[in-house]
Amino acid sequence: MKISESISDLHQFLQQHASKTVALVPTMGNLHQGHLDLVERARQLADFVVVSIFVNPLQFEAGGDLDNYPRTMQADVDKLEKAGVDVLFAPDVKEIYGADISKATQVIVPVLSSLWCGTSRAGHFEGVTTVVNKLFNIVQPDLAVFGQKDFQQLTIIRKMVNDLNIPIEIVGVATRREEDGLAMSSRNGYLTTKEREIAPKLREVLLSIQSSILVDGERAYTFIAEQSKEMLNSEGFKTDYLAICRQSDLQLASENDTKLVVLAAAYLGKARLIDNLVLDVQPS
Ligand code: PAF
Repeated sequence: MKISESISDLHQFLQQHASKTVALVPTMGNLHQGHLDLVERARQLADFVVVSIFVNPLQFEAGGDLDNYPRTMQADVDKLEKAGVDVLFAPDVKEIYGADISKATQVIVPVLSSLWCGTSRAGHFEGVTTVVNKLFNIVQPDLAVFGQKDFQQLTIIRKMVNDLNIPIEIVGVATRREEDGLAMSSRNGYLTTKEREIAPKLREVLLSIQSSILVDGERAYTFIAEQSKEMLNSEGFKTDYLAICRQSDLQLASENDTKLVVLAAAYLGKARLIDNLVLDVQPS
């Protein structure tokens, strides 16, 4: 596997493979099986796979966990080599943003970026869309692969690509879970042993919403969401939000909507866990 830390080196290498289709898997490192699923999908869909590892300061809030974000480069390199990745692009902050990140041009997807995670993490999605746009321009892949665990992020990236006519196919990959249902995430490492036992309840609450809607035919979405929040809080979470939304624009769903997604974020000790559940409801 080729490792490039600079854009010019990456470009030189990519030029040698100009006839191949290229898939990009953007990551912030600290790789787990969920990331490797993205790589596997990328390998199925393209001749050549580029993975980026870049802990993007622009998507962390001031005073957030940027400094403590786990950096595990050697272990990540080993995993990517085993997974058959062709190039790892691992630039530093200056390579991506130049000398002064505070003056960097930003790409903003309005409205969607200020909902849900965007409310509690001001500026987060603006940081994501900016860096993803830059990575797209640097790598110029045919397709890019993202996890469905970050459902809002995936929705925003799809909108950006559509709005800006970016000629890249966006591929979403199902969330990889631990045996007890907890969605894999770099942030699970922040959980204490006790919190780790409680963490799968987040998924369980989402599944019980699924059953209320699909099996019991409940349609009082605001009430279901409120009850579910209380349930999570009583288990020891501090729920940031739990909302039953339309898949298309992530606004609160009404009774007549059929393509739904339940979005949730909840703190458990130091960890902020997110999860979601996509639901297709029969029209009434
Ligand atoms: O999902 C992530 O790991 C990041 O938000 C991404 C897409 C790599 C952008 O920094």
